[in-house]
Amino acid sequence: MRRAIYPGSFDPVTNGHLDIIQRGCKLFDEIIIAVLVNPDKTPFFSVEERCEILSEVLKEIDRGDCRLTVESFQGLLVQYAADRKANAIVRGIRAISDYEYELQMALMNRRLQPALETVFMMPAEAYSYVSSRLVKEVFQLGAPIKGLVPPLVEERMRRKSGS
Ligand code: PNS
Repeated sequence: MRRAIYPGSFDPVTNGHLDIIQRGCKLFDEIIIAVLVNPDKTPFFSVEERCEILSEVLKEIDRGDCRLTVESFQGLLVQYAADRKANAIVRGIRAISDYEYELQMALMNRRLQPALETVFMMPAEAYSYVSSRLVKEVFQLGAPIKGLVPPLVEERMRRKSGS
């Protein structure tokens, strides 16, 4: 049983995240999409909203035989992964600029939990510049975000911001 954790803020989930999950489904029997509860950040969507949106948009993706679950977590990622008996952490890398931070986290996590592997995956080139941060920024400045996030996310962002 190959079980992976795909951790992140997912504020909001983008088409890039979904692309990574779909690719991960070819490698793992189960992927737990784990939404970080981060009290230091003021998010656009609450953790509950993010989990609910993720569960909804995941219904649309081609998962093959892979089981997908959505959970929130807090505290150390490696501890959470051990609690869930996961073998791997999945992280998406879009560009070299992501690599430095991701490598640091992967090596720190390896130091803390040597048996847990980090698997870096590349999204389709079309999503190589898409981030939750930029999606929120362009949305808040009134620009279209169609094609960057699932339609449900755009709709929920509009509803939330009253636009
Ligand atoms: O989507 P993000 O914000 O880039 O995800 C970052 C995340 C959730 C992977 C990272 O912040 C994390 O693992 N946080 C949990 C706390 C932890 O274990 N920190 C040590 C990481 S080496």
